[in-house]
Amino acid sequence: MKNILVTGGAGFIGSNFIRYVLTQDSAVQVINLDLLTYAGSLENLNDLPDPARHTFIHGDICDGDLVGKILRDHQVDTIVNFAAESHVDRSIEGPMPFVQTNVIGTTTLLEEAKKYWLLEGNKPAKEVRFHHISTDEVFGALIPGDPAWTEEIPYKPNSPYAASKAASDHLVQAYGHTYGLPITITNCSNNYGPYQFPEKLIPLMIQNALQGKALPVYGDGQQIRDWLYVDDHCLAIWLVVKNGRVGETYNIGGGNQPTNLELVKMICRILDDLLPDSENIPHEDLITFVKDRPGHDFRYDMNFNKIMEELGWQPSLDLESGLRKTIDWYLNAGEWMKNIHQESDLQSWMEKNYQNRENS
Ligand code: NAD
Ligand code: DAU
Repeated sequence: MKNILVTGGAGFIGSNFIRYVLTQDSAVQVINLDLLTYAGSLENLNDLPDPARHTFIHGDICDGDLVGKILRDHQVDTIVNFAAESHVDRSIEGPMPFVQTNVIGTTTLLEEAKKYWLLEGNKPAKEVRFHHISTDEVFGALIPGDPAWTEEIPYKPNSPYAASKAASDHLVQAYGHTYGLPITITNCSNNYGPYQFPEKLIPLMIQNALQGKALPVYGDGQQIRDWLYVDDHCLAIWLVVKNGRVGETYNIGGGNQPTNLELVKMICRILDDLLPDSENIPHEDLITFVKDRPGHDFRYDMNFNKIMEELGWQPSLDLESGLRKTIDWYLNAGEWMKNIHQESDLQSWMEKNYQNRENS
């Protein structure tokens, strides 16, 4: 593996993955194809360790001609597909961009990989790999007492986002099964860490708490997510790309499962501790319960024994340590936050989202 096409590499996990890979392997060249939607930013790539081994291409994964040209020009032997519309609330507001990028875009990548590697026989390396990044949300929702999801559990997606990711996973599997494209998939739980766009729970709460704004908890805050620090996810992906068995899927989880309310309170306590002079202490007083997300999944829980046993991966950070690292990063990311606000639709999205939730 030498020339890796990373799609969505200007987003949260993709940019952390590029940083990680450039540090791990000095032979790797990264080609980063990203449309720079509201969620993508070149600001996320400012501090790459060896920028000469990173080529940024502004474009759409739905553009087959462009994807085919990139595969040929750069003799790509590995594709890692992060590019997606990723926010559940936005998918409820408008599902079409999710179908477009997550389903059509992924299929376009598969089709171009099939043409270049299989039909035209251009295998620039002995082994080529199409790795697709997916989510635990394809499995649906657990109720109290249900066991954690294994890789064998049938898909039962609930939100338009989850359904679009499930469709893309099925297409990746179909290309493996039908055409023999060497694929792998990872399904991961909720990530957090540096460079996460502040529409998602953890960075949103940090940002609002720092500004003394309300911390909007959906419903009664009793829903449960399984949180994983982003670097742990990047390591897991890298292990699967290098050593995962072709055709297999691997679950990745954090083993950290507070309720949303407990999580927000943890963030508040850490902020109280790190900012003893803040006028917003106790930050918990900023918590506000707002109207619930429609169809809100109750609980996610991943059984990640397979990747532990086959590839020796396990999460390295507990939630308290990961949150402290993350909050510390956001405390020092004032310029990043300012620029993200300037170049994205964040303000108008937040206003629209919270108008919908006002009458809880
Ligand atoms: P993100 O929204 O931060 O980043 C997505 C990136 O994809 C952005 O840079 C955006 O510009 C780019 N993009 C969107 N449409 C594109 C298109 N048509 N062509 C090219 N680029 C396009 O997302 P994220 O949180 O970093 O998630 C990355 C991947 O990981 C997604 O596939 C998501 O489903 C999956 N995932 C995320 C989490 C999580 O907790 N964030 C957990 C599990 C899986
Ligand atoms: O589980 C993996 C998924 O995690 C990824 O596939 C998605 O791309 C990623 O966005 C994330 O989805 P969630 O919907 O779980 O993440 P979000 O941060 O939007 O919400 C986390 C939980 O917090 C969820 O139960 C809804 C709740 N929430 C969220 C926001 C933004 C609130 O209570 N208040 C909020 O303001």
